[in-house]
Amino acid sequence: MAALAAVFALAILTHCSAVMGRAAPAIPPSTTAKGPVTYVFGDSMSDVGNNNYFPMSLAKSNYPWYGIDYPNRKATGRFTNGKTIGDYMADKFGVPPPPPFLSLSLAGKDVLGGVNFASGGAGILNETGVYFVQYFSFDEQITCFETVKKAMIAKIGEEAAEATVNAALFQIGLGSNDYINNFLQPFMADGTTYTHDQFIRLLITTLDRQLKRLYGLGARKVVFNGLAPLGCIPSQRVRSTDGKCLSRVNDYALQFNAAAKNLLDGLNARLPGAQMALADTYSVVMELIDHPEKHGFTTAHTSCCNVDTEVGGLCLPNTRPCSDRSAFVFWDAYHTSDAANKVIAERLWAGMSAGHGGAPPVAPPRVGASVPAAAPSPAPSQDDY
Ligand SMILES: *[C@@H]1O[C@H](CO)[C@@H](O)[C@H](O)[C@H]1NC(C)=O
Repeated sequence: MAALAAVFALAILTHCSAVMGRAAPAIPPSTTAKGPVTYVFGDSMSDVGNNNYFPMSLAKSNYPWYGIDYPNRKATGRFTNGKTIGDYMADKFGVPPPPPFLSLSLAGKDVLGGVNFASGGAGILNETGVYFVQYFSFDEQITCFETVKKAMIAKIGEEAAEATVNAALFQIGLGSNDYINNFLQPFMADGTTYTHDQFIRLLITTLDRQLKRLYGLGARKVVFNGLAPLGCIPSQRVRSTDGKCLSRVNDYALQFNAAAKNLLDGLNARLPGAQMALADTYSVVMELIDHPEKHGFTTAHTSCCNVDTEVGGLCLPNTRPCSDRSAFVFWDAYHTSDAANKVIAERLWAGMSAGHGGAPPVAPPRVGASVPAAAPSPAPSQDDY
């Protein structure tokens, strides 16, 4: 397993730099955007198509029913039926969401705008997500950002590149997979190797090193999205005997969030110019789960496409989703629906404007609740696409 993982890691590492240059159709650069340049790091909650470029990735959603409520009913690689929380945040700014890193041409102007490095299956730890075979772990996402920065320097010079990065907003949504697809996964070693206290320490020391690395590359304004109540996502709820949220798992998320908050506060105190904040996605998502009807939903305990007990938990091409997709908080067994993402983005935005929710004195976050996790995707049937 370890040897296998090492091989994959190597394959992926080479991919990050090899990809530059032979880029796919360029998406218009976001340099024309009015909002701040935004760099997004994350997992399947924030992925806007990077994993589509990985031929061997098992964390993919570029098939129907994904995207059924996206413009043109298009499956883009987003792990929901419509837009992500980050997409809705970008709407608030009146800017296009940053394009996936793997769609960019590093030789062109693309490198001066925002970039989304998020990859379904990714975690804080390298070993998280190995069974998805191909994806960018957080460390690899940072390496890809480093590549972008080098290309920027080549284009506009060291000083201008540094100023752009210093002023940019770094949105990070990671950690869910370290629980869902690692610590809580019976066939992964970390859950038996570590106690939860030890595991949190491992996550936080790793995150500490990663955030310092980003700081070293010029990141100053950082919003880290706290974990959502992971014990309430359909794939966890089905593990309880009474269909209720797993309070033990929710406690893990709360403990992690508290430790992450401490870490960010410490970094702000020690690193000159650092403005790193935790976004309280836990409360926002919990409110939707506790009081769905207050926000226009009927159902928060199960997924719209009824895959809570399916291996993988992603919607299957041949299942029928619920008839009213906007009435469900959860789209699949991990990911919130388009309608929920809209409400979550609105509430996060309102929290920022009101001065709580932990945003730095920059702009609200682009990425959202770090709810989920990607799971191995079912093979899409040929005629689906
Ligand atoms: C994780 O992988 C990165 C390369 O992407 C490497 O630099 C780092 O040392 C690895 N971390 C651990 C703890 O092995």
